[in-house]
Amino acid sequence: MILLGLNIDHCATVRQARYRTAAESTGGAVEPDPVALALVAERAGADGITAHLREDRRHMLDRDIWRLRESIATRLNLEMACTAEMVKLALELKPDSVCLVPESREEITTEGGLDVVGNRERVRDCVAAMNAAGIKTSLFIDPDEPQIELAAELKAPWIELHTGAYANAYFGPERTREFHRLRLGCARGNECGLVVNAGHGINYVNIAEVRTLPHLHELNIGHSIISRALFTGIEEAVGTMKSRMNP
Ligand code: PXP
Repeated sequence: MILLGLNIDHCATVRQARYRTAAESTGGAVEPDPVALALVAERAGADGITAHLREDRRHMLDRDIWRLRESIATRLNLEMACTAEMVKLALELKPDSVCLVPESREEITTEGGLDVVGNRERVRDCVAAMNAAGIKTSLFIDPDEPQIELAAELKAPWIELHTGAYANAYFGPERTREFHRLRLGCARGNECGLVVNAGHGINYVNIAEVRTLPHLHELNIGHSIISRALFTGIEEAVGTMKSRMNP
């Protein structure tokens, strides 16, 4: 069984498109509420909820994250930058896991994963702080051996392989090559003793191939599920994705 982590950031993006500068006087009429969406998604079978608290608070807000922590019944996976501010917040919040993602240009590899090799000390310190607090750390990285091996060396228990390059190449000539890289990355991660997750750009079409990757534990999916939910509702969108992940 491959697990589904539902990324709800895009729900908050829609809310912020209207209410970014709204005063508190708008009261409760601030919609759509990503926390309410998460609760329905859990009932529809989502195995965990993923939310990215960006440093610029572009979509999820601090209060969303705290409300999620208080209300969801599954697992909270907090995506965050590897900064002192976010480490402090995570230690207070105590999510079930954190996924370290790049936010500033110097942290990003050419394909968009976290450059663990280039940010070794910062990542090591963050992983150590989370391990000491009993919070699992996942590193969002490209399927490249040096990044994967260093993740294991720094004692991160999980990695999330960036599937964006594969998803972007899906209808082009590079797809086979990108899929092969992901296969090798999953195998290497497993050999290194890491729990292997994947995410970014996964949709209702490419899932048929993504699900055949070896050793997959969990997929974090946001955009395609939230998009489908506009037409079918979040229960159907979650249920259909889960059945395509595990037919
Ligand atoms: N995993 C990580 C680390 C991400 O940053 C994102 C995008 O917010 C996702 C998964 C989900 O990607 P998508 O919205 O394309 O499904």
